[in-house]
Amino acid sequence: MPDQLIVCKSCSFTADEEKRDGETGGAHLLKQLQVLYEQWPRKDELALETNGCLCICEQPCAIAYVGTGKPTYLFTGLDPATCAADLLTAAELYLDSEDGMVSAYKLPPDLQPRRAARIPPAP
Ligand code: FES
Repeated sequence: MPDQLIVCKSCSFTADEEKRDGETGGAHLLKQLQVLYEQWPRKDELALETNGCLCICEQPCAIAYVGTGKPTYLFTGLDPATCAADLLTAAELYLDSEDGMVSAYKLPPDLQPRRAARIPPAP
């Protein structure tokens, strides 16, 4: 099973702005990602998935990287209008890491403070 980038499609744009032009922040982010993903040379290695809620609703937008035998990374407080390209850059780091460990300093600068959790894989 390929690694996954899971986007919470229900997330608000910000904690104070649920929708913009009738669209949730998560739905907007997903659209931004889908455009880039279609041209992305590594899309066979990473599945772009959605989820109804990642249970961190008070810190939108939220996404997670999930991989078999790899830690799960949760990112929150993302700006859905600007973060899509950075998320695919970070996805490449995740794909390239055999054990899934990615140092924060290697992430795109805007993502570094947005990493909220790293959850170890099941043994
Ligand atoms: S609505 Fe996105 S984490 Fe709950």
